[in-house]
Amino acid sequence: MTVRLDLNGLLATAVGADGLAADDVAGLEPELARVRDELAAKRAAGELVAADLPHRRDEARRVLDAAAAMQDRFDTLVVLGIGGSALGARALVGALAEEAVGRRVLVADSIDPEAFGALLGRLDVHRTLFNVVSKSGETAETMAQFLVVRDRLLRELGAVDYKEHLIVTTDAKHGALRQIVNDEGFSDLVIPAGVGGRFSVLTPVGLFPAAAAGVPIDELLAGAAHADERSKSATSPLEDPALALAGMLWLLATRRRKTILVVMAYCDRLAATVDWFCQLWAESLGKAMDLAGRTVEWGQTPVRALGAADQHSQLQLYAEGPRDKTILFLRVEDHGATVELPATYQDLESVAYLGAHSLAELLNAEQRATEVALAKRGRPSATLALPVLNPFTLGQVLHLFQMATVAAGALAGIDPFGQPGVEEGKRLTYALLGRPGHEQGRAEVEAWLARKDPRFVV
Ligand code: PA5
Repeated sequence: MTVRLDLNGLLATAVGADGLAADDVAGLEPELARVRDELAAKRAAGELVAADLPHRRDEARRVLDAAAAMQDRFDTLVVLGIGGSALGARALVGALAEEAVGRRVLVADSIDPEAFGALLGRLDVHRTLFNVVSKSGETAETMAQFLVVRDRLLRELGAVDYKEHLIVTTDAKHGALRQIVNDEGFSDLVIPAGVGGRFSVLTPVGLFPAAAAGVPIDELLAGAAHADERSKSATSPLEDPALALAGMLWLLATRRRKTILVVMAYCDRLAATVDWFCQLWAESLGKAMDLAGRTVEWGQTPVRALGAADQHSQLQLYAEGPRDKTILFLRVEDHGATVELPATYQDLESVAYLGAHSLAELLNAEQRATEVALAKRGRPSATLALPVLNPFTLGQVLHLFQMATVAAGALAGIDPFGQPGVEEGKRLTYALLGRPGHEQGRAEVEAWLARKDPRFVV
């Protein structure tokens, strides 16, 4: 049940000049060895907590207890969070929810008034548990959702019972949410120190909603641990899937100007995993400065795509447009569900060939055909193949992608963990809504608006 990463399509032998030559790959090995040692040292010093998450089984036990406690009382869990505090839960629930054993889990990572209002309107709050998720404990979107929900719970359930309908996942010590939990006595789960939003899928941030949805989280963690063991036991850096993926994508970005990474899953249940990965890759690697303080403006733009639908929408661009993309396919060998195609219209050649095949065969044939068609046009691609999609294989994928992101950051010499570029927008939002201490921001926004030339507002 091991996932396999096929990197052949990134090589010059497969795609010609746009691929990596033998020299490129040979030169990459020592770079990757340096990164492997650097990350191992960080890990040993406790500075790479995300790498150790697959092995923290005590937390999983607490999560399972909390999920078990909700089973009889609630039929719906609503996650209130955004960014890394929502996408991991979305990925796990989207791929693995077991309707027969779990609760319905909804992830409300929107403050669109219509969407959020409609969601609340559909809920029976008496049967709903809300999971407020925020590492910082003060993200405006999440706190706004929390305020609305708390108010409704108070009105409908009263000042005693409302608390039972909230469980907060946040930092152990810091932030407004932590203070609120301590003051009001909500149930809580802790996000381990040193783990930020987009690396938190294997903490209670992702695990609790997953467990509530009936996902066997022990198997998920076992899968992640398996991926970790594979990396640790690799005898050369290129045998470590995470390092190899990071290294080759980085090389293609820097040497062949493949500044866009299209992530194309041939499995609808992996669509939210692709979203999760796109945030991980974008927010972690898109950085202005390197670790030495030099301006690098590095990053590789991830684009989500879903096969086979996007073959009929985006593929034309990937095949014939600018040569600035690498494609990463996600493929599931055995889809489990079988939908056989009836052998009808045998007299119509253009339809008859479909008979005696299944939808799964058609989908996987399309992935393979797209890979080859792109290669024939010199467009590099790699394929991550899951034997089946289950908690054990998805756990491997998540860990592999997280470690590949950290390794790509190390290769580019940037810090993958901060997100300084999004702070400015937050500061200006606070200013517009009158948060004390942010008055200057309002003047900046007003000056910006005053500079607009009405001739260009048409
Ligand atoms: O990955 C990240 O760190 C961010 O996307 C955060 O998850 C997001 O901004 C929400 O932050 P918080 O969990 O502090 O509410």
